[in-house]
Amino acid sequence: NKLAKVSIIGAGNVGRTLSQRLIERNLADVCLLDIVEGLPQGIALDLTEAQGLQSHHCEIMGTNNYVDTKDSDIVVITAGVARKPGMSRDDLLKINAKIVTEATQKSLYYSPNAIYLIVTNPLDVMTYLVWKTSDLPYDRVMGMAGVLDSARLETFIAFELGVSIHDVQGMVLGGHGDLMLPIPRYCTVSGIPITELLSPETIDKLIQRTRDGGAEIVRLLKTGSAYFAPASSACYMIESILFNQSRLLTAAAYVQGEYGLNDLFLGVPCRVGSNGVEQILEIKLTTEEREILQRSARSVRDSIDIALSFL
Ligand code: APR
Repeated sequence: NKLAKVSIIGAGNVGRTLSQRLIERNLADVCLLDIVEGLPQGIALDLTEAQGLQSHHCEIMGTNNYVDTKDSDIVVITAGVARKPGMSRDDLLKINAKIVTEATQKSLYYSPNAIYLIVTNPLDVMTYLVWKTSDLPYDRVMGMAGVLDSARLETFIAFELGVSIHDVQGMVLGGHGDLMLPIPRYCTVSGIPITELLSPETIDKLIQRTRDGGAEIVRLLKTGSAYFAPASSACYMIESILFNQSRLLTAAAYVQGEYGLNDLFLGVPCRVGSNGVEQILEIKLTTEEREILQRSARSVRDSIDIALSFL
């Protein structure tokens, strides 16, 4: 049985950790590409040298040349720069828009039929740009954020209740940012909504910590941002695609009227399988939740317009 091929553009913290997750679980052969010479080759060699000890058999190659990504089943884009002191949000948008659209063009040339999974921030905007600047059908492009935001919320719920993380289900919709939309009545512990188990004040506290989840890690790490949980989240989505698991998860997907939103990518509940985003589920939201989602969508739309003006 031939293994699937996943190419990862960007061999930084997320890209290399995702490579490790994929090969150590024998999920796919990996091609890791970066603009920095030697970096992806070094990481690939190091991971290969660990293989005998870890007892797995997937191939990993490091490269600076897109020809090596040829015929990928999935292309993951993590390339980009982090925001540095003195850099505005728009500066970051401009730089990452250029990096991500170039990476898309080059990957597309060799893997026109792949599914594209976007990780680079600002996530919802970058996912839109990948779709907009390619001929890819919208259901073959998705962004990774909702799985991560939900995983963070699940962790905090498990901490608070002292229960196993395996019994907790979180539900976070919307953009990946301050306006993300955790929905407590759809967050459950063994089927029990957390609204039955925790006070509104405690739930608010957990939601706030989830919204600040990325910033909390940045504060602790001081240099760089989270990568273990982001890599696990991407791996989870990739598994659902490669093995056609039809998992119901939150992905940044292209909306066409769902939730009253149009022409953008935003975190919504999706069924994800071998064809990409196979279905978007429209669940009932309260007026207040709809408003937050609309605000989140407007903020993503504004950034999309700015990013498009740079291209
Ligand atoms: N082509 C290929 N790789 C590139 C390019 C490019 N044009 N430009 C930058 N890169 C590479 C960098 O050389 C670096 O190795 O992208 C990598 C980014 O890695 P990190 O800075 O370590 O960032 P990481 O923590 O992996 O996060 C990647 O995911 O979660 C988001 O906000 C995060 O946008 C960021 C992305």
